[in-house]
Amino acid sequence: MTETHMLMGNVKHYDFLVIGSGIAGLFYALKAAAGGKVAVVTKKNRAESNTNYAQGGIASVMSKEDSFEDHVRDTLIAGAGLCKEDVVRAIVQDGPARIAELIEYGARFSVKHDPAAPGHAELDLTREGGHSKRRILHAQDITGRELERALLEACTRQPNIHIFENHFGVDLITTAKMGLPGPNRCVGAYVLNKTTGQVDTFAARVVVLATGGCGKVYLYTTNPDIATGDGVAMAYRAGVPIANMEFIQFHPTCLYHPKAKSFLISEAVRGEGGVLKNLAGEEFMNGVHPLKSLAPRDIVARAIDSEMKRTGADYVLLDISHLSARFVMNRFPNIYETLLKYGIDMTKEPIPVVPAAHYQCGGVLASVDGETELPGLLAIGEVACTGLHGANRLASNSLLEAIVCAHRAALLSLRADWPPPPARLPEWQSGNATNADEMVVVSHNWDEIRRVMWDYVGIVRTTKRLQRARNRILNLQAEIQEFYWDFLITADLLELRNIATVAELIVACALQRPESRGLHYTLDHPHPDPAWEKRDTLLRRPPPPSP
Ligand code: FAD
Ligand code: SIN
Repeated sequence: MTETHMLMGNVKHYDFLVIGSGIAGLFYALKAAAGGKVAVVTKKNRAESNTNYAQGGIASVMSKEDSFEDHVRDTLIAGAGLCKEDVVRAIVQDGPARIAELIEYGARFSVKHDPAAPGHAELDLTREGGHSKRRILHAQDITGRELERALLEACTRQPNIHIFENHFGVDLITTAKMGLPGPNRCVGAYVLNKTTGQVDTFAARVVVLATGGCGKVYLYTTNPDIATGDGVAMAYRAGVPIANMEFIQFHPTCLYHPKAKSFLISEAVRGEGGVLKNLAGEEFMNGVHPLKSLAPRDIVARAIDSEMKRTGADYVLLDISHLSARFVMNRFPNIYETLLKYGIDMTKEPIPVVPAAHYQCGGVLASVDGETELPGLLAIGEVACTGLHGANRLASNSLLEAIVCAHRAALLSLRADWPPPPARLPEWQSGNATNADEMVVVSHNWDEIRRVMWDYVGIVRTTKRLQRARNRILNLQAEIQEFYWDFLITADLLELRNIATVAELIVACALQRPESRGLHYTLDHPHPDPAWEKRDTLLRRPPPPSP
C-alpha cells in the first residue's frame, strides 16, 4: 500500500469527462471525440480493467443459424423474469453494427478456415452457458486484452482524447453540493492525481461513469484489484439511485490453487466440451439441469457450492482432457500456459476449480442511453444497471452491453444541448493530519469486509446472515468515516470507503428482496415470489438534514 498526500490541485476543463478506461469508457471516448475534448481518467495504467481479463468473448448474432429472437430469449431466461425486454431487444439488435465498429477500430477476432474452401475464413463463434446457439466472438482466450489493445491504439490516433493514468476519481461535483439554485446537475469530479498527491478539479458538460464492477468486495473473485465499485459509491453519495445490487454473479470456475490469484477458467472451456466432475469423478451436473455443465451460471455455481458442502471437498474438477491436446492448446493458449506454470496440464488432467465473485448485475440505475437520474451524469458498462441482465447475466453479454450503451450514450452526448459547467468550481478540501501507523487499520478493515461478504452474503444467503453482515459493515463504516475526515487520504482509504459502501448496498438490496430469484438465493425464501417479478430493488441516499 502506498500513502498519497492530498494537496489542492488545479482545475481542468473538458467537454466530456470519462471515469474509467475499460471497453465502455474507451468506446464512448472514441465517439464523443467527434464533438469536443475528452478526458479519460483511470486509476492505474490505462489497460488495467476488468475488460483486459475477459476471456470467453462477446455475444452477438452473427450466423445464419442464429437470430435476434433466440439471443433475446436466452437473455430473458437467464435474467429470471427481471430483464427489461425493450432494453434486451435494443442491445441485441444493435450488436452486429457495434461489432463491425470494433473490427474497424482494429480488433482481431479468431476465425476458422474451411478446408473445403481454401482462402475462405469466417468468424469462429463459440458457446457459453445459457446460449442456445454459437454466438460468442472471441480472440482465442484473451478477448479482453485484444479489445483493450485495439481501443487504446484507436484512442492514441484521436487528438481530442487525453488519457490521465494514475488518476483516481474521488467524488462527483454537483450544483446542489455547490449550493447553486435551480435543478441539480453534475458538472465535474474531484480526481486524485496519485503521482503528485494533488486533488484536481475536472469540470465538464458531461461526466461518464465507466468504472466497472465491484468483485473486490468479496474475498474470492475473478476481478483485478481495480474492481472496488467506486462508480456505484460515487453515484450513491451524489444521491443517484442504485438498483439490484443483490445480484452478484459468481463465476463457477475460478482456478483453485494456493498460489493463484483470481485466475478464471473460461466458460468457453465448458462451451467446447469441458465437463464438471466431483473428486470421485462423477458428473454431478447431469441430474441438475438439461444443459448439464453448460447450464446458466447461477445454477452451476449453486450446484458446485452444494457439491462441495455435500462432499466436504475444497474444490471440484473441470475436465477437458478427453479432447485432442492440439485443439485445447490452440483454442485456450493463455489458460493452457498459465496452468502449466502451476503444474497442471489441462490436456492430460482435470483442473481444480471453485466459484468466485465475478460480475455486478446491478449498479447505477441508467437507461440504455446511459442516462441517470442526475442530469449531466451518464453511467455505462458494468457500473450501470440498465435492465439487460435482470437477475442473472447471460455469459458474454456484458462486453456487448458496454459497446452498445457507450455508442448510444455518445450519440446522446453529442445531440444534447447541455450547458457548460459554472465558471468556478469549489476546490477540494481535506483533513491534513498524518497517521501512517493507522494503515494497518485500513488493511484490516479491507480484509474484514471481504471476509464478511464472502461468509454471509455469498452464493447461498439467509436473513440472519445478512443482518449480521449489515451490523458488521455499519460498525466498520463508522470507523472509516472517522479516518476519512481526520486524516490525509490515500487511494487505499478511498477504495476502502467505496467497498464498505458497496457492501452496505449489496446487503441492503438483498434484505429488501424476500424471495430467491436468479443470483439471489436465500434459504429463508427459497422460491421466486410472483409479486416480486419485474420489481427492482432500489436505494437512494437520504439527503443530508438541512441545517
Ligand atoms: P472495466 O473494464 O472494469 O473498466 C473500468 C475502468 O474504470 C478501469 O480502467 C478502472 O481502472 C477504472 N476505474 C475504476 N474506478 C475508478 C476511479 N475511482 N477512478 C478512476 N478510474 C477508475 N464479459 C464478457 O462479456 N465476456 C467475457 O468473456 C468476460 N470475461 C471476463 C473475465 C474476467 C476474468 C472478468 C473479471 C470479467 C469478464 N467479463 C466478461 C466481464 C467484463 O469483462 C466486464 O463486465 C467489462 O469488461 C466491464 O467493462 P467496463 O468498461 O464497464 O469496466
Ligand atoms: C468466461 O470466459 O467464462 C467469462 C465470460 C463472461 O463472464 O461473460
